[in-house]
This record gives sequence, C-alpha cells and structure tokens, in this order.
Amino acid sequence: MKFPQADQILVEIQNANPQNKEELEAFRIKYLGSKNIVKPLFAEMGKIDPAQRKDYGQLLNEIKNTAEEKYRKLKSEIERESARHSTQKLDLTAPPLPRKKGSRHPVDIVMNRVIDIFKKIGFSLAEDREIEDDWHNFTAMNTPEDHPARDMQDTYYLRDIEGMLLRTHTSSVQARVMTHQKPPIRIIAPGRVYRNETISARSHCQFHQVEGLYIDKEVSFSDLKQTLLYYAREMYGPDAKIRLRPSYFPFTEPSAEVDVYWGLESEIDHRITKGTGWLEIMGCGMVDPKVLTNCGIDPEEYSGFAFGMGIERQALLAYRIEDIRWLFENDIRFLRQFHAAI
Ligand code: PHE
Repeated sequence: MKFPQADQILVEIQNANPQNKEELEAFRIKYLGSKNIVKPLFAEMGKIDPAQRKDYGQLLNEIKNTAEEKYRKLKSEIERESARHSTQKLDLTAPPLPRKKGSRHPVDIVMNRVIDIFKKIGFSLAEDREIEDDWHNFTAMNTPEDHPARDMQDTYYLRDIEGMLLRTHTSSVQARVMTHQKPPIRIIAPGRVYRNETISARSHCQFHQVEGLYIDKEVSFSDLKQTLLYYAREMYGPDAKIRLRPSYFPFTEPSAEVDVYWGLESEIDHRITKGTGWLEIMGCGMVDPKVLTNCGIDPEEYSGFAFGMGIERQALLAYRIEDIRWLFENDIRFLRQFHAAI
C-alpha cells in the first residue's frame, strides 16, 4: 500500500452499505459533503514524493468517483424501495371506490328485449350490411325501379357508387338470407336503417328496425297472427290486445299493419294514440310469391310471413321520452339515466 490513508478510505467506501435514507445521508456527508474526509488528502499533495504525485492524484480521483457512483446507485435503490413500501401501506381491505359503469343505450335495451322474445320461440339472429345494393333493398323485395312504392321510403343513394344505397329497411336482410339459406328459415334481423326524412321530435333520418322472417311448408296467416300476439303479450303484458289493419307493402301479400291496445285513460294516452287507444307497432304480411322466386325459393313448395318493426318508437314509449332526437345526441346526462337497466 503506497498511500495507506487514501487506500483505506477507498476500501471503506467500497465496503460501505447504507441501508436507509439516514445512513445514505451520513455516507454523503462523510465522503462527498463540503467537509468530506477526502479533502484533507488533497492538501497532502505537496508532501508526496513528486515521482508519486501522479499516482496519488489518480487514487484521490478514484476515491471521489467511487463515492459519487455508489451514492447515486444507492440513492435510486433506496428511493425505489421506499416507494414500494408506501404502496404496501395501502389498506387492501378497504372497499373500492365506486367505479362508474357504462350503461346501455335505451334503443339497445329495447332491441335486445325484442330479440330475446323471438329467440324463445326459435328465431335465430341474422345481421347484415347497412350499405346495401339496390337489388337486395328494393328489386328483390318486389320493388323494381320506377315502382311507385319506392316513394314510400325516401332513399340515400351513394354519390360515387352506382346502385348502392343506405338500406331503408331491414327487409334487405330477408333477401340476403333467402338467397343463401334453404327453408325452413326462421330469422330475426335487427339493425340500423336510413331514410331521407326531415328530422323532428317524431322522426329521424336514422333509426332501428327488427325484421322477422319465417319460411317453411304451409305457413299461414294465422301463424303470423299468433306469433305477433305472442310478441305483444311478452312485450306489453299478458293482457295485451292487437289488431291487424289491411295495408300495403310491395313484398307482402296480403299485408297488414299491427296495432297494440295502449288505453285511453290519460291525456297522454289520447295524444300518443291520436284518440284511438291503439298504437301502430309494425308492418307485416305473407311473403309475396314474387319475392320468394326472386330469391330462388319455389313458392309452390314454400310460403312464409314477414314483419318489420321500428325500435325507437317503442323505446320512446317504454321510457316516456318525448323527443326521438335525444336518442341520437349522445348526451351523457340523458344516457346515464338508463343505468339500472340490463
Ligand atoms: N320493411 C317495412 C318497412 O320498413 C316493414 C315490413 C317488413 C312490412 C316486413 C312487412 C313485412 O316499412
């Protein structure tokens, strides 16, 4: 050992092992502070044999660097350790803060109820595209171009793609399914549809429908009636009454509109049923043989019924919402109210 005092300090630093903040601070003061014990050694320089001064200087630098490096390393280790300890001090038995749960959209809630009701009697789910071609939305549904019934549904056509449109009804899914599946077919098709209508409290340019289609041998109008009565009783209560009024749709023959009895007790009842007590909930009918033929199903062998209902209307009624526009504005204050529902 050429420089016993300095060598000893170096060894001391190498062996030092501060365990906590206090010990580390003591280490810092001793070796790196303004009155550290290395300083006096620099003052010794003049007493060192000139031939050895270079080595001495290097040793002192090594001492300084070793102390600095050790301090830096231990500091970050100790800090990390103490952060870990402070999380361990959390009371893990404390009840968690309430987490804000999302809520389902009222349209979704009603749509799921409708789907569940039909699932129970064997209808399976069919979903398809919202950007549809003219054929599936209209032509297959017995509404060729220039057919006056096209005026019933004011359509958004795609500007850049000839023959493409936003589907105006979920009946397009009927065509999609019938051209791909062999009867018996029993499907329910929920989804969003679009019509170029003026937006008001009562109508919107986008809304949702649920379509039903049943094709098999010897399906009759009474099967349709019974199915719809079952739906009305599940949806509106066991005493629900329905009535069918003759109507017209190009894709069904005969066609009907279905009303459910709402009652005429309050002023609101008068208002929403326009004084009749009856509320229109859907369109329906026996699938027109031409539609079957268009989709490759033999109308001599098979028959079927179809129905299509709007969802927003039923959601407005179920939750007594006065304006359909609320359903599309995504105002969190409005949507939060539907928390309790599944
Ligand atoms: N597609 C019709 C509409 O949107 C509803 C409907 C569906 C009517 C199926 C009859 C049969 O108005």
